[in-house]
Amino acid sequence: MESLSPAALQSILDDIAAAMAQRSDRGQPASYIPELGRVSPQHFGIALCLPGGQTLLAGEATTRFSIQSISKVFTLAIALGRLGDDLWQRVGREPSGAAFNSIVSLEHDQGIPRNPFINAGAIAVTDAILEGLQPRDVLAELLRFLRVAAGDEDIHIDKTVAASERAHAHRNTALAEFMAAHGNLRNPAALTIGTYCHQCAVEMTCVQLARAGRFLAGLPAAPRLVSPARVRRINALMLTCGHYDASGDFAYRVGLPGKSGVGGGILAIAPGRASIAVWSPGLDAQGNSRLGAEAMEHLARATGWSVF
Ligand code: DON
Repeated sequence: MESLSPAALQSILDDIAAAMAQRSDRGQPASYIPELGRVSPQHFGIALCLPGGQTLLAGEATTRFSIQSISKVFTLAIALGRLGDDLWQRVGREPSGAAFNSIVSLEHDQGIPRNPFINAGAIAVTDAILEGLQPRDVLAELLRFLRVAAGDEDIHIDKTVAASERAHAHRNTALAEFMAAHGNLRNPAALTIGTYCHQCAVEMTCVQLARAGRFLAGLPAAPRLVSPARVRRINALMLTCGHYDASGDFAYRVGLPGKSGVGGGILAIAPGRASIAVWSPGLDAQGNSRLGAEAMEHLARATGWSVF
């Protein structure tokens, strides 16, 4: 189990892609961002990067999709690099047990979001890295980070998706304004939300995303973007909060830190072993990729990979 060859892993990925191609119960793409609602739920792709530098793939692993909330992992890494532990005065580190876009706990917690991966928390993180800068500077920094992490310059923002979300961002604007009412927003809500909608609209392929996650898996070929101690903490947050109110379920079924996005992507990290990205746009009731989570579960079972 411990040392599967790349050929054995490739055969597992091929089996997963073949099994997923048969499935009809795929869930529905996110429709509250109209541009995402247009994407067919039939897509499926998976890629993984290994310590030896190999990238294995199956299905539509070189098709671009909207990374959405997976961007929150990278903005968190940037914010921790910039602010260090001061960031934790603005956002907590506890699972919320609530939907990704919930406003409920904000009221109980005086405008401090439970964690950096629910929308409110990610908006606070974006607001923190925006302070003193223009949105274009923050977005350029995010793209630079992703390009270095993936070793690939061809990573961009889909402006149509960003505009589509921006035009329907009433709920996120409400979260930002609520935090502003509690003194936990440093920029005008419109500026922070505009930046946030653009960061979510980064598009990447499974191959690019798996490569961008290599630093979190501590793979030898990964650029050293974040200290090992901080990588461990980001992984801890991914495990406990990366799938919102389904984080416990993902930890139980897959046993790896993971971060989902409503574009249907999931990035999962097998520390020291692999960085894995999967994409299937149909979502479950919690807004996470239905087949994506199943594919990760299949992979974890077949490889024995787990942090436990
Ligand atoms: O803020 C939003 O609603 C989206 N831009 C991102 C939400 C998201 O990806 C939740 N993940 N499953």
